[in-house]
Amino acid sequence: MSTPTLPGEPELRAAFGAFATGVCVLTTRDAEGCPQGMTVSSFAAVSLAPPLVLWCAQRGVQPFAAFEAAAHFAVHVLSADQQHLSDRFAWGEGNRFAGLAVEQGPNGLPLLPGCSARLLCETVERHAGGDHVIFLGRVFGLSHQPFEPLLYHGGAYGRLLRA
Ligand SMILES: Cc1cc2nc3c(=O)[nH]c(=O)nc-3n(C[C@H](O)[C@H](O)[C@H](O)COP(=O)(O)O)c2cc1C
Repeated sequence: MSTPTLPGEPELRAAFGAFATGVCVLTTRDAEGCPQGMTVSSFAAVSLAPPLVLWCAQRGVQPFAAFEAAAHFAVHVLSADQQHLSDRFAWGEGNRFAGLAVEQGPNGLPLLPGCSARLLCETVERHAGGDHVIFLGRVFGLSHQPFEPLLYHGGAYGRLLRA
């Protein structure tokens, strides 16, 4: 019987990237009270009752420790005109919030304006997931606007073309 060959990382990335997603910025506050944020495409809605969402963070990225320690996080679902926020929270050096109109939400959560949706969450579970950690959050507050979404596919941004 032949053993299937394990794919290398470039093939895995290409196959995983075939799944088109939205783009979110996740925010929280670290133990020193500084806002922390990162761009994420791994967000998914999980359950309506109770309202649960999940997302995955790569171990070792700079904001990881803050999210691992924090009791709460905010999900910002980016709109089509917020690609600059995705770039900033994926690759920005130093204070990624500098110059942004950041509101202080419940539990000190840093909130960004102009998003398609904002979900305020309490972290209820963390699961090991290889080189990532899967965070499960219970939604305790939300707002949403009928903006067109920012999409991500094959390592590039996209826009929605309705069928
Ligand atoms: C569109 C997009 C989606 C991303 N999705 C994720 C994700 O789901 N999980 C993750 O850990 N990193 C994801 N990243 C990468 C993180 O945003 C990035 O590694 C993190 O902000 C890096 O922080 P550092 O360079 O300061 O360590 C994504 C980046 C982009 C551009």
